[in-house]
Amino acid sequence: MKTIRWGILGTGSIARKFASDLRFAEGSELVAVGSRGKKSADDFAAEFPVKHCHYSYEELAGDAEVDVIYIATPHNLHYENTLLCLNHNKAVLCEKPFAINSRQTVEMIALAKEKKLFLMEARWTKFLPHFIKMQEMVAAGMLGEIKAVLANFGFKPLPPVNPRLFDPALGGGTIMDIGIYNVFMAMAILGQPDHIDAVMTPASTGVDEQCAILFRYKNGAMAQLFSTFSANLATEVDISGSNGHRIRLTSRFYEPSSTIEYYGGGNAEKQIIEVEKGAGGGYNYEAAHVNECLRNGLTESPVIPFADTLRLMEILDKIRKLAGVKYPADL
Ligand SMILES: NC(=O)c1ccc[n+]([C@@H]2O[C@H](COP(=O)([O-])OP(=O)(O)OC[C@H]3O[C@@H](n4cnc5c(N)ncnc54)[C@H](OP(=O)(O)O)[C@@H]3O)[C@@H](O)[C@H]2O)c1
Repeated sequence: MKTIRWGILGTGSIARKFASDLRFAEGSELVAVGSRGKKSADDFAAEFPVKHCHYSYEELAGDAEVDVIYIATPHNLHYENTLLCLNHNKAVLCEKPFAINSRQTVEMIALAKEKKLFLMEARWTKFLPHFIKMQEMVAAGMLGEIKAVLANFGFKPLPPVNPRLFDPALGGGTIMDIGIYNVFMAMAILGQPDHIDAVMTPASTGVDEQCAILFRYKNGAMAQLFSTFSANLATEVDISGSNGHRIRLTSRFYEPSSTIEYYGGGNAEKQIIEVEKGAGGGYNYEAAHVNECLRNGLTESPVIPFADTLRLMEILDKIRKLAGVKYPADL
């Protein structure tokens, strides 16, 4: 099996989780890290030994021993970091949200296509066993026709609060950071909404501290999605269908620790649907998929194709417009 050589761009919280999980994605080697600062790069390399420790993103992008770069910087940098790596002929796995808006998304995809390089949004939940199982249950008609999806995602950040959560210049607000998971869930189950409503409560910086979104569908189905940085919520999803049956993805629905509860309707007892929970924190599944795509010479993921990423970003644009959340990069 060909070893895929990884580089990580950025050394924050998610970069460390991903680095730790790479060892569970067979045939991966963490070869390099790139950071804006010497100290953060050295600290990262002390925790996760790498062959090459780069003190700039540019140097990492130019590392001849790296096959693919995982981008783990704040939202606003995904666009320029992805372009930098693609322009150095590197494959890219880019954190969510893929970009600040659909305009940037279109450019990122166009460059990957032009250069015939692999590019994928790191929407890790799509690869998790409990998510895949839930989709199989829905597709098998266990709930009948889906009528309602209720998703919530909320936490109250503890000090010191990461500036990227509220800074408009870094793409702050709940919609792009956590609301995106609710939106993705609704779209995975019900598809593209026919009508969207969205309202928000602004933080002092102007970005959304809370956001309530309603998706309506021509067949009468609805999805109610709520995200907040003001309160700790259960962070669960309920999916209900025409036969009265319901699936609940328990807290935290976006992670592998979530459990599937199945309520068969009427007086039926709750059933726990067992799903094998593999080793690792869950980021290994998306990494393994990228490895497989690269070994097979693919430039686009069959699980998260470009059209899927673009659709999600277009819906996020619409939600932000309705809710009144604007970033400098939108201008
Ligand atoms: N998939 C998931 O489960 C998941 C979970 C959390 C976050 N994320 C996504 O991952 C991205 C990073 O989130 P995070 O929580 O890891 O953020 P973080 O802890 O703040 O780390 C971000 C890193 O980006 C680099 N950076 C470059 N310019 C920066 C700037 N102006 N301000 C702050 N950092 C800057 C820094 O690394 P250097 O100093 O080394 O360059 C920093 O350590 C976000 O887009 C977020 O949505 C995904």
